[in-house]
Amino acid sequence: MTLNTAQRRYLEAMGIDVFIARYGESRVLAVKPENPVPVVITYPPAVDPAEWETLRGEVAACKRCALHKGRTQTVFGVGDTAAKWLIIGEAPGAEEDRQGEPFVGRAGRLLNSMLQAIGLRRDEVYIANILKCRPPDNRDPRPEEVACCEPYLRRQIRMINPKIILALGRVAAQNLLKIDTPIGKMRGRRYEYPDPRVPVIVTYHPAYLLRSPKEKRKSWQDLQFALRVYRESE
Ligand code: URA
Repeated sequence: MTLNTAQRRYLEAMGIDVFIARYGESRVLAVKPENPVPVVITYPPAVDPAEWETLRGEVAACKRCALHKGRTQTVFGVGDTAAKWLIIGEAPGAEEDRQGEPFVGRAGRLLNSMLQAIGLRRDEVYIANILKCRPPDNRDPRPEEVACCEPYLRRQIRMINPKIILALGRVAAQNLLKIDTPIGKMRGRRYEYPDPRVPVIVTYHPAYLLRSPKEKRKSWQDLQFALRVYRESE
C-alpha cells in the first residue's frame, strides 16, 4: 500500500504513529498503539524534507535574474513531493504572484478539471513552472530567465523523481526538452527528460484551452495518452 499526504494525515489524526522512512528508503511502519501487530506500509521514496526546504529558501531569496525586482513573491510549486505525476507550466501569472501558488486562477481551475478527468486530484500531483517569478505583463519567459531558473526545477525533478511529466503548452515543453518543435508536432509523442529519465508528454496550456475551447478534445486525447504511458511505466 502506498500513502499520499491526505492518507498520512488521516492515519495521524486517528492516532496511528506513522514512521516515515528516510530519503531513499521505501517503507513506513504504521503502528496502532493498542494493536500489537505493526501495520507495514510501503511508501514511495520520500523527498528529504530538509533538502526540499533548503531549495525552497534558495528560490525565495533568488536574485539571479531581473524578474525578482517585479515579483510579490516566488512561486515554488505545490502538491505532493512524493507524486508520480509532475505537471509543469510556464510561469506565474498575476494571481499566482499574489498567492504564491501555481495555477490558482481560471487556468488553474481548468487544470484541476483536466486532472480530475484522468482520476487525479490536485493534491496528489506536484505542480511547478519553468519560471518561479512572474514575467511582466505575462510576456514569454526570456532565454536568460529560463537559464537562471532551470537549476531549481531540475533539482525539484530529481528530488520528486516522478513517473511522468506533463508539460503544459509550448513554452513549458520547448524549454523543458530544449527543442523548438511546434506544439502541434509534440502532441501524441513520448519524449524523455534526461536526468532522471522520465517520460514527458505534451499538451496544450489550459489558458490556451480557455481561449480555444474547441481544442479541448485534443487535450483530452493527450491526457489519455499520458495515462497510457504512465501505466506502461508502472
Ligand atoms: N500559467 C502557468 O503557466 N503557470 C501558472 O502557474 C499559472 C498560469
